[in-house]
Amino acid sequence: MDKRTFIKLSGMAGAGLVAAPLVSGLIGCGNAPVDPGTPAAQDAATTGFTLPELGYAHDALEPAIDRQTMKIHHERHHAGYVRKLNAALEGHAMAGQSLEALLAGLGPNDTGLRNNGGGHFNHALFWKVLTPSSEATGPSGMLADRITASFGSQDALLDALSQAAGSRFGSGWAWLVQDENQPDRLFVCSTANQDNPLMKGVVEADHQGRPLLGIDVWEHAYYLNYQNRRTDYVAAVLNRINWSEVAALMA
Ligand SMILES: [Fe+2]
Repeated sequence: MDKRTFIKLSGMAGAGLVAAPLVSGLIGCGNAPVDPGTPAAQDAATTGFTLPELGYAHDALEPAIDRQTMKIHHERHHAGYVRKLNAALEGHAMAGQSLEALLAGLGPNDTGLRNNGGGHFNHALFWKVLTPSSEATGPSGMLADRITASFGSQDALLDALSQAAGSRFGSGWAWLVQDENQPDRLFVCSTANQDNPLMKGVVEADHQGRPLLGIDVWEHAYYLNYQNRRTDYVAAVLNRINWSEVAALMA
């Protein structure tokens, strides 16, 4: 079953217009089990949410992102968020909800779910929208039209993402977001730690919407290769965006 077919078949009740297609786009297609011999499998819980596969080799994004960083980031950091999310959900009233519904419904004091649910969603999205350079192409079609209408040009979008990623103090994410009330309107913002635009009970109103693209600016995402040169890392990542996947995430 391809992704679009899966999206049509998966009507997630209660998650809202923003959440439903993202569930299948990220989690439904990302639940393939990892090799049981890897640290990822050892970290991931056997029930509940599971670690999605990258969809490409650890070294596929070199030199933008080096193999060791990708391996540690996926098999240790992301797997850790999944494991801690499942632990936080044991006996919790929000257990059983889709990840997007959970993120939309939590409050600022739901620390375990906020940090680890956000960590799981954000990284699943990040892996999805990256691609080896040989496959990278620019935005096209409706996505390109919406980028031009919202930012003036594709270069202006890239500048906005670079600015958001570079100016985030400490750890967090830079986002390209679709306005859920005005689907033609896209905007860029950044959030701290593992927060994201789905968290309506946490982030500011003008940061809320449907995340289409996230850039991880935690130091664990780049420090081995770039040390403190976050700007260089962000520029390299922006050259590895799978714009077809970004477009497919639009409502
Ligand atoms: Fe990360």
